[in-house]
Amino acid sequence: MTQSRIVGTGRSVPPKVLTNEDLARMVDTSDAWIVERTGIRERHILDSSLAASDLATDAGRRACARAGVSPSVVDCIIVGTVTGDCPFPATATFVQKKLGAPAGGCAFDLSAACAGFLYGVSIADAFIRIGQFKNVLVIGVEVLSRIIDWSDRSTCVLFGDAAGAVLMTAGDENSPGRVLSTHLFADGGLAEILWQPVGGSREPTTAEALGAKRQFVQMNGREVYRHAVKNMATGARLALEANGFKADDVAWVIAHQANLRILEGVSERVGIPMNRFFTNVDRYGNTSSASVPTALDEAIEQGKLKTGDLLLFAALGGGLAWASAAVRW
Ligand code: ACO
Repeated sequence: MTQSRIVGTGRSVPPKVLTNEDLARMVDTSDAWIVERTGIRERHILDSSLAASDLATDAGRRACARAGVSPSVVDCIIVGTVTGDCPFPATATFVQKKLGAPAGGCAFDLSAACAGFLYGVSIADAFIRIGQFKNVLVIGVEVLSRIIDWSDRSTCVLFGDAAGAVLMTAGDENSPGRVLSTHLFADGGLAEILWQPVGGSREPTTAEALGAKRQFVQMNGREVYRHAVKNMATGARLALEANGFKADDVAWVIAHQANLRILEGVSERVGIPMNRFFTNVDRYGNTSSASVPTALDEAIEQGKLKTGDLLLFAALGGGLAWASAAVRW
């Protein structure tokens, strides 16, 4: 039976670093507060001359190189983002051109915030299993620094910019990197606990809206925290149950790097100790849809994953949208 498999990963992280000490000079906060509440020590910020498609293209190119293929074989590009180059067309179309992937392939964005990458993996998995596309590049990219109110200490300390990518292709039930399952969820009743109200058809960008700073991320941090722990844990447990696995079978959890306390809450609920959670939130902050593929790429680079390892993925973000996946490495 055809199954999809991950054959290459890549990430792109802008060189400019913003530390907690830097933030303490901008707003009323401290390194101690940020580290205690989030585990974040620094984050990376994209240069103003560049856009999401630049980061995404770089990550996509690296994923193709790691897979040992030319971008010319990529027939589908899926970009999970809420900070694309512009409202339309899709950032994926800019990536297609910059990457040198063939015109006539498919390229589209999807909006599932921090769950966007895993939503993309799920769609790619379905495309590959039914034979619609052969080489699908799934990218999570965010330039959240552009939609953050840098005078709001309750949000500006949390986020960073990055892109991560995987190249997926067809394999069989013995292929390394194969996707065993994906589960997707959403609860629109919670849409307004984490959102960017202005810039769409509901509240177009007017001088009044800008004055009220509603073009920036608005968040009820406590509510997001509560739902993040609960729903990521539920999604992760479902991924295990669907495959007949136990918590002990999991070699690594590659979860959305929102903050360390959320990951610790998920660890406790799923019964998988933190030493089997890969974390890089301390150095990148919350990079939304980029966080899971960036973490996966770093875990590979650090030699942490062995062939045959069971990987458990989970993410949650605005929507609320959340997702989980199991992969046999
Ligand atoms: N520095 C210092 N003090 C701060 C800061 C800051 N950066 N931000 C808020 N505070 C203050 C508040 O003003 C408040 O002060 P008060 O008691 O005098 O009113 C106090 O700290 C406590 O504020 P809370 O918001 O209650 O703090 P909490 O313990 O909930 O921590 C946090 C806030 C870290 C945002 C937490 O709610 C959280 O992690 N939520 C999840 C948010 C998240 O991860 N969002 C990312 C997008 S969604 C996702 O990726 C899953």
